[in-house]
Amino acid sequence: MNTAFHPGAIWPDNKGVHINAHGGGVLAHQGTYYWFGEHKVAGEAGNKAEVGVHCYSSIDLYNWSDEGIALAVSDDPKSDITRGSILERPKVIYNELTATFVMWFHLELKDQGYRAARAGVAISKSPAGPYTYLESFRPNAGIWPVNVREDQKHIPAGIGDKSFSGATNDEVKKTNILGRDFTGGQMARDMNLFVDDDGTAYHMFASEENSTMHISELTKDYRKPAGRYVRVFEHRWMEAPALFKRNGRYYMIASDCTGWAPNAARSMSAASIFGPWTELGNPCSGVNPENGMGPEKTFGGQSTCVLQLPGRDAYIAMFDIWRPKDAIDGRYVWLPIEFTSDGFRITWRDSWDMAAFTI
Ligand code: GAL
Repeated sequence: MNTAFHPGAIWPDNKGVHINAHGGGVLAHQGTYYWFGEHKVAGEAGNKAEVGVHCYSSIDLYNWSDEGIALAVSDDPKSDITRGSILERPKVIYNELTATFVMWFHLELKDQGYRAARAGVAISKSPAGPYTYLESFRPNAGIWPVNVREDQKHIPAGIGDKSFSGATNDEVKKTNILGRDFTGGQMARDMNLFVDDDGTAYHMFASEENSTMHISELTKDYRKPAGRYVRVFEHRWMEAPALFKRNGRYYMIASDCTGWAPNAARSMSAASIFGPWTELGNPCSGVNPENGMGPEKTFGGQSTCVLQLPGRDAYIAMFDIWRPKDAIDGRYVWLPIEFTSDGFRITWRDSWDMAAFTI
């Protein structure tokens, strides 16, 4: 029995095997927590989807039971989610209206690197699955964001599907990537989901070659974009978004854009989910003694989600320490969020337990 969290350490499940749910998210449903994440295999092969989305369940968040593969990759080479595609950052939300669990994830088609930049959707009637894959697409084709500028409302000629990977911000600022992707849909990479108090759900993702984030409302059944979205953090290259709400205010943790290598975390807040958002700076402090990394490298990790304990003023920030050379060995850093008068703080702890929330 685990009675505490040990950030960065091997985290055995009920079978004694290190939990395999990277880039994950936790859903609280009827007294049980469900942790969904990327199942990674050993070595560099683990950076692609060889198995699918793994699910674990827990009552106390310390001890997790293996629930198996919630969404399996396909053996059909024609499937979008065929083995060897890239399936990242799966998140699950519960749709009351249809009594269905809805999973979204970032999908890259097999052998196309990160060019496809699609969102994938799968559904299930039971939380741990199995999930049925529905489709993948680039969101919001043919729709301008609510805050589009007049000078963006055109489709630029001559940039085709040019990749802006490694491009300078000056180059990106000169290019209307939003307009380029108007017809085919907006790029959707690192992502998360958020269900607001009124039941409206949102999909937030790194778009426009990762240069700008989009926050996109979902339909009432949570399976498609509703067609209303906003561009936020223009040209700030934010990845790994993790959104949460406290006392009516929205907060987000995100990272810079440096692949598997860690960078400094960012935090922001807004009175309305569609913004305007204000950046608050790096929320982290302290050092992970295992790798010597502090706030400038987010303890060696990258944000993946924030879990609010149901009905409580208690929030856990979750990060991944990626191990791209041996992906299965990636580690999890879960830390409590402490709120301050103007934002929040996340301080490294070698170990901690729920008592952190009552002090
Ligand atoms: C990270 C991203 C991960 C994965 C990785 C690939 O920046 O957050 O989810 O896509 O890049 O290099």
